[in-house]
Order: sequence, then C-alpha cells, then structure tokens
Amino acid sequence: MIEKIPFTYTNDITVINQEQFDVHMRLYEGYVTNINKIDAILQGGDAQRDQSNSTFSYYRELKRGETYALDGVILHELYFENIGGTTPEPDRSVMDQIANDFYSFEDWQEDFIATALASRGWAVLAFDQRSNRLRNISLDAHDLGNIAYSAPVLVLDMYEHAYFLEYADNKAEYINKFMANINWDVVADRMRF
Ligand SMILES: [Fe+2]
Repeated sequence: MIEKIPFTYTNDITVINQEQFDVHMRLYEGYVTNINKIDAILQGGDAQRDQSNSTFSYYRELKRGETYALDGVILHELYFENIGGTTPEPDRSVMDQIANDFYSFEDWQEDFIATALASRGWAVLAFDQRSNRLRNISLDAHDLGNIAYSAPVLVLDMYEHAYFLEYADNKAEYINKFMANINWDVVADRMRF
C-alpha cells in the first residue's frame, strides 16, 4: 500500500500559487489511489494472468497502468519536493558536477529550459549511471522517455495541468519561475549516490 505524502503549500513556493498547487495535489492523489487499485488486482486473483497477450489483454493493460500510475506518483513527489527553494544557485559540489557535464551552469540552465519547452510531460535532470554523467531528459508521459538506469535529481512537471490555471499558455514564464524556485538542497541530497 502506497501512502500519499501530505505536501503543504508554503510561502517559499513562488513558482505556483495555492490554487494551482491544490488542483495539482488532487491529481497526484489520484495516481496514489490508482496504483493501489492496480496493485490490489495484481496481488489478488482477478488479474486474468492466464489470458496475457501482447496484442490485447487485461493483464497487459494492468502492466501498462502499473508503471504509468507509479511513475506518476514518483515524479509528482520529486517535483513537489524540489520546489520552494530560496537560493538561485546550488552549492559548490552540485555546481561542479553540473559544470563538468554541461560545460557551465549557464549552459545547463539554457539546456534544461530548452528540454522543458520540448517536453509534453516532464523535464528531468537525471544522473545516467551507464555514462556516469548528468543528462537533461524529456518525458512525453510518466512512463515515456526515461533512461532505464538513471537517478532523477531535479524534476519539472510540464503537463499543462501543472501551470495552465495560473499561467494560461505562458509556458516560458512558468519555466522561468521554476528555475528561480528550485530547492537546491533537495537536489544536493539526491546527488549523494
Ligand atoms: Fe502533474
């Protein structure tokens, strides 16, 4: 059973207002409900495992829903945890790692913004364990675009539901506000592998 994390809105969160936050929180809670429903079916006796088929089957749909809902939970939690920061830049160790993998912090910022603009779902700064380096990756859905062996260290929700209530179609402003409200302490914790 997955328990939802009780996130609360604080004055340190400047990227989105309370109304946008509350709407988004309800959506996150829906993913928690759905992964628990799917897990219950998979662990119960109603999954129709004996009918499993890669073209069409109930079991296939459960498997599609399992990773979609669970990634929906995880990515939202990573996103809500890494907003609300008050410092514009990371500490020295994170700065050095980013500069090492992207030439400079400013180059990383430019690339992350471009990645966000290119994304229909999520922009993620992830540590790619195969190449032993950070990459900005673009996800078109919770379960579409991830590197198989990687650790997300910074997550930005680029679904329209994340910003449209407050920003309408001004996607660029939402991204800029996010860049100024990153909780770099959380990112630093995630980078202590
Ligand atoms: Fe979202």
